[in-house]
Amino acid sequence: MSNTILVGAQWGDEGKGKIIDFMTEQADIVVRAQGGANAGHTVIVGKTQYILHLIPSGILRKRTTCVIGNGVVVDPIGLVEEIDGLLKAGINPKGRLHVSDAAHMVFPYHKALDAAREALKGKNKIGTTMRGIGPAYGDKIDRVGLRMGSILNPKRFSEQLDLGIKRANAMLKALGAKPVSAKATRESVIKAARRLKPYVANTFQMLHEASAAKKRMLFEGAQGTFLDIDHGTYPYVTSSNTTSGGMCTGSGIPPTMIDRVVGVAKAYTTRVGEGPMPSEDIVVGDLLHGMGREYGATTGRERRCGWFDAVTVRQAVMVNGITDLAVTNFDGLDTLPEVKVCVAYRAGSKRFDLQPTDLDVLAKCKPVYESFPGWQKPTDKIRNWKDLPLNARRYGQALAKLTGTKLRFASVGPARSQTITL
Ligand code: GDP
Ligand code: IMO
Ligand code: MG
Repeated sequence: MSNTILVGAQWGDEGKGKIIDFMTEQADIVVRAQGGANAGHTVIVGKTQYILHLIPSGILRKRTTCVIGNGVVVDPIGLVEEIDGLLKAGINPKGRLHVSDAAHMVFPYHKALDAAREALKGKNKIGTTMRGIGPAYGDKIDRVGLRMGSILNPKRFSEQLDLGIKRANAMLKALGAKPVSAKATRESVIKAARRLKPYVANTFQMLHEASAAKKRMLFEGAQGTFLDIDHGTYPYVTSSNTTSGGMCTGSGIPPTMIDRVVGVAKAYTTRVGEGPMPSEDIVVGDLLHGMGREYGATTGRERRCGWFDAVTVRQAVMVNGITDLAVTNFDGLDTLPEVKVCVAYRAGSKRFDLQPTDLDVLAKCKPVYESFPGWQKPTDKIRNWKDLPLNARRYGQALAKLTGTKLRFASVGPARSQTITL
């Protein structure tokens, strides 16, 4: 298999970074194609934990090329900070990291607008990561955004940035929010842009040339299927296509060049931010938070927790064309005598095997649970599928069967070595 897309099958934070890192062994190029610094992908290498926001998780393996594709919204200041963080850790991304000249940029005023719009929404807020994602994609769709390639022409870039600041400040004022300082914005952005010049490239061409040279590509999805702007629980979603199609438009690699799609799901469900989550359950939340787990990698927020929701993952399998399922965090359920799976929703007399689009209907949906006996044994030191407790294996296979796909990876801890392949 040469080209693989990896996507989140739930509401983000499924453990994509960890699985990407594991799979990078079989890839030459790792590509981010959507989202921005709203992502927080945790990778543990040896004793060091890295949290990557914009740079593909493949950067942690020395021979891997990394691409930030045209579909990503790039915060230049954040990207420079991330590069500096890697340099401090002894990893030099120069020559291995390439940023698409067609990728749009996120500026401090996008973050200010993100905050102002959330404040205006009051109790209807989305609970965004405040990384300026919605406003930056808004500018892109509105055809007033600035692309990474523009930093190669400093005079034009400076003029366009001024226009952007003016426009954003007019909006901030209209929203009753504080405008950004034009001077400070210009200085910080231009300083970062200068540093990023050597990284800007025509990544579309680069990827096609690499493919012609038989290089293997791994697409690192950000967020998750139910945060997709079209297929998620709108409006409680992010502003990009987080599903497999988004990896194609966000990189310029067509669907006919994709060989497999890996969907990552936790053995339970989590969500950060507002919006529906039918299988949310306080017992699961107390268990995981009690273990010091399930706090956001980008914002530190406590993640909402619940049982595995087969309705959503089943839909994720369909919309992404998931051929291989990776189930992470098996070890999170190790102590439970009974593990539940939401196999369908029920609202009144109606049963749903897929998620209803209308959020009012979804709000009325109650989970229909199937119970599985727990394994009540630690799994974190197990490295082979056959050595997992029988009930854990039965649970894993049931998740794949209920969602209509094949189980290929089972993860029993955050480290690279704690990954079981089937
Ligand atoms: P991503 O956004 O999908 O890359 O996921 P995050 O990094 O935001 O969140 C996943 C969290 O779970 C991180 O803290 C990972 O280190 C951790 N993790 C991933 N897989 C496992 C696993 O199998 N077991 C345990 N205990 N932690 C895991
Ligand atoms: P990774 O890649 C989990 C959520 C936010 C909010 C909604 C919109 O680490 O899985 P945004 O800032 O994108 O406008 O916020 O989407 N969200 C994520 N939740 N993991 C992520 O990324 C997320 N990126 C955005 O919490 O509910
Ligand atoms: Mg995350």
